Amino acid sequence: MQQGIFISLEGGEGAGKSTQLRSLSNRLRDAGIKNICTREPGGTAGAEEIRNLLVRGDAARWTPKTEALLMYAARQEHVEEVIKPALKKGVWVLCDRFADSSMAYQGIGHGLGVDKIAALNHWVLGDFRPDLTLVLDLPVSVGLSRTQGHSVGENRFEGMDTAFHERMRQGFLSIAKANSERCIVIDATASADVVAENIWKAVIAKTTKPDPEAGS
Ligand code: TYD
Repeated sequence: MQQGIFISLEGGEGAGKSTQLRSLSNRLRDAGIKNICTREPGGTAGAEEIRNLLVRGDAARWTPKTEALLMYAARQEHVEEVIKPALKKGVWVLCDRFADSSMAYQGIGHGLGVDKIAALNHWVLGDFRPDLTLVLDLPVSVGLSRTQGHSVGENRFEGMDTAFHERMRQGFLSIAKANSERCIVIDATASADVVAENIWKAVIAKTTKPDPEAGS
């Protein structure tokens, strides 16, 4: 059986990831492609418990290292229990944030270091990574104004200052540049319909690309 495709959505606060995830999921379903939507941190009962430790409370609650380890503890559960089994069954997995968020937030935003996160990532995931990553990009001020009043209680990361969010935005853009075969930057300032259309085009382009190793 053909493996499912693993797509992650990344971006700063208020980029509209969850709306776009639902929209992509519906469109794939209408095209006859089985898919599941999931999120990080979270996605399994245990990982959702870890999520609660991460997204609630004071911004200074955890040291950046602890935060990174908790993210990867949740990710390990999620990958082994949900993502890999679904892909194996041919089901596509759409994930609201994945490992690039750890690189941007913990590695770059918090200054833990790109090398440290890369090493942790390699230990936990090996070579496992999304087939396609959609980076929803928009100015920090626009994103933060969109999130005001959202997800009551889950605001620990929204308590970070603007400079943190700016570092993180630049982090996502540099990750996308360094991994251009996997990542596509999508302008998230456009209307939700236009963003959805651009995402759809990116998914089609990625999944219909001729395989250079096939045939000939
Ligand atoms: P999420 O619920 O996706 O928040 P939002 O969509 O509102 O931005 O993610 C919760 C927070 O966790 C988010 O602020 C980013 C942060 N995060 C990390 O710092 N590192 C990670 O590896 C992940 C997956 C998320």
